[in-house]
Amino acid sequence: MFPIERPRRLRRTSALRRLIAETSLAPADLVAPLFVAEGREEARPIASLPGHVQHTVASLVDEVRALHAAGVGGVILFGVPEHKDELGSGAYDDAGIVQVALRRLREEFADEMVVMADLCLDEYTSHGHCGVLRADGAVDNDATLDLYARAAVAQAAAGAAVVAPSGMMDGQVGAIRSALDDEGYVDTVIMAYSAKYASALYGPFREAVGVEIAHGGDRRSYQQDYRNRRESWREARLDVDEGADIVMVKPAMTYLDVLSDLRREVDVPLCAYHVSGEYSMIKAAAAHGWIDGEAVALEQLTAIRRAGADFVLTYFAREVAEALNS
Ligand code: PBG
Repeated sequence: MFPIERPRRLRRTSALRRLIAETSLAPADLVAPLFVAEGREEARPIASLPGHVQHTVASLVDEVRALHAAGVGGVILFGVPEHKDELGSGAYDDAGIVQVALRRLREEFADEMVVMADLCLDEYTSHGHCGVLRADGAVDNDATLDLYARAAVAQAAAGAAVVAPSGMMDGQVGAIRSALDDEGYVDTVIMAYSAKYASALYGPFREAVGVEIAHGGDRRSYQQDYRNRRESWREARLDVDEGADIVMVKPAMTYLDVLSDLRREVDVPLCAYHVSGEYSMIKAAAAHGWIDGEAVALEQLTAIRRAGADFVLTYFAREVAEALNS
């Protein structure tokens, strides 16, 4: 009789386990989403995202400094404008809050930190949709592309190293790439939210940025249907063909199959967005003492890397980076 198989042999000590680990998680693999609000004197806590605030430009600079010191790989900015309008003009106005914040971060950090800007209209439109509306209330894909192109140029001019279109309009990456190139911003990176699903997990984010979709609407005519998997292959391939430098899957934990597929489907860097609801669920359960929040965060972020992500956008970035460093 043969001896029994003993996979446990390699799990005996923590030194052996570390040696054979297939996946690593380091601060440099994390990108912190940050909110910056216009016309506010003081940072304001976001109740549904414990530990996160709507920053002033000054408090944003302090936060980015702390993230940089912790070795976090980058930050991605979201704006909270004072005024919204039908066309979301705050998204592409040179005086818009994200453009103001980007200029300040460039002065302070130059290229020491990778500064990204989410590129969308929803925080800036009075109706809360990611694009402009036609007379019949539907989102007008091609009219929206012109505004995304303007936003990309405004963000690049203000100093964003990476622009991240998140609106799921067809052709958005191509439109942004040609506008950037035409204006000479050939080095600005495009990180495309390629496989972005219409998800109930964005709830806390919408509170964070004060977005409410008019008439009880939703984003199902532009974001993907969570029943679909193959569709994400096509979305990612189209984005890469149009010039995406990095592609993203969002949310993360409920779409690890998609992440794993895209790792095989495209050869550009791949990331995943561990979204607001994913963060808040862990925080809420941990606050009850039902789970160990930090351990669950490490497990989830590592699982996202295991499934194929090169890096992860996460509200845990600072907390987990500091834990990994200690
Ligand atoms: C759209 C955008 C959203 C998120 C990132 N970019 C909201 C949406 O699609 O409704 C959600 C992020 C999160 O939940 O953490 N600009």
